[in-house]
Amino acid sequence: MRAIYFQRNGGPEVLDVRDLPTPTPTDGEVLVDVEAVGVNYRDVYERNGVGYGSAPPAIIGVEGAGTIAGTGERVAWVHIDGSYAEQIAAPRGKLVAVPDDVSSEVAAAALLQGMTAHYLAADSYPIAEGDWVLVHAAAGGVGLLLTQIAKARGGRVIATTSTGEKAELARGAGADEVIGYEGFAERAREISGGEGVKAVYDGVGKTTFLEGLRALAPTGRMILYGAASGQPDPLPLSMLAPAGSLYVQRPTLQTYTRTPELLKERASALLGMIETGVLDIRIGARYPLDQARQAHEDLEARKTTGKLLLIP
Ligand SMILES: NC(=O)c1ccc[n+]([C@@H]2O[C@H](COP(=O)([O-])OP(=O)(O)OC[C@H]3O[C@@H](n4cnc5c(N)ncnc54)[C@H](OP(=O)(O)O)[C@@H]3O)[C@@H](O)[C@H]2O)c1
Repeated sequence: MRAIYFQRNGGPEVLDVRDLPTPTPTDGEVLVDVEAVGVNYRDVYERNGVGYGSAPPAIIGVEGAGTIAGTGERVAWVHIDGSYAEQIAAPRGKLVAVPDDVSSEVAAAALLQGMTAHYLAADSYPIAEGDWVLVHAAAGGVGLLLTQIAKARGGRVIATTSTGEKAELARGAGADEVIGYEGFAERAREISGGEGVKAVYDGVGKTTFLEGLRALAPTGRMILYGAASGQPDPLPLSMLAPAGSLYVQRPTLQTYTRTPELLKERASALLGMIETGVLDIRIGARYPLDQARQAHEDLEARKTTGKLLLIP
């Protein structure tokens, strides 16, 4: 079977297509034929070797959807190392059943970024009717889903994006106001009537984090859930008091899906929102598995919108 391997940490050039033996499931595992692989920004961190995922040499990636060999049961997953592959040996407890009316592509496109958007909006800061919140990179994979879930909860969304085309997509997802990154904190305060926003959802990191603190209302929540532009500078905690007794969280989906029960609960809440049409899943691009390198180049160059899939 073919898989995308990284021999060492580095840029997209370290990704190579390899022909490898079919994996052999051990106790509690099943063999899965992969139909669609989810590409996530965490794969870039894994490839670069900044504290995420497998150490090289290894197959990269963690997300996908497909069918269990022999039974044909349709499943998806978000936490299985070595997912950029035609076949994987998957622990049963990490698999989620995919409903009949959700395609494998949609399942692979929705699960990781969708469950992330779900816990951000429901748990990191439970968005309530009328709340203003700020969503950075709102045309990205997590961003488009978070914007839709925030709106479904009755929130009001200020979205940042880097281009006009991305701004249109964020508006299409329901964002009330779409702005650029330049001076975003001041703009967010103005839009929210001077009070500031209840929460800032920041997956960008270095270039936005500190300014984001200035966009928050008193006792507001800064939720740093990623670092696409790099890790932010260290935060002196003493800054939080005069800025309005602020809260800061650095969450990860791993925590919110750390047991098979939590994973299944979160996945079924998300899949339910897809089945009932509350969430629209935008697949921004599909690449043949062999072109994983190109997918990573495009993602890091900020050329992409919505979800990227690799098709084996
Ligand atoms: N903590 C968790 O549980 C969790 C789970 C999933 C994802 N995440 C994080 O969520 C974030 C988004 O992930 P994603 O997979 O959905 O990716 P994505 O948002 O589709 O892609 C990243 C986006 O970030 C923006 N960006 C701003 N500055 C950038 C820079 N210097 N380099 C690259 N991109 C930059 C770009 O949008 P603009 O061009 O509009 O600025 C880009 O399209 C990532 O930080 C990821 O690590 C966290």
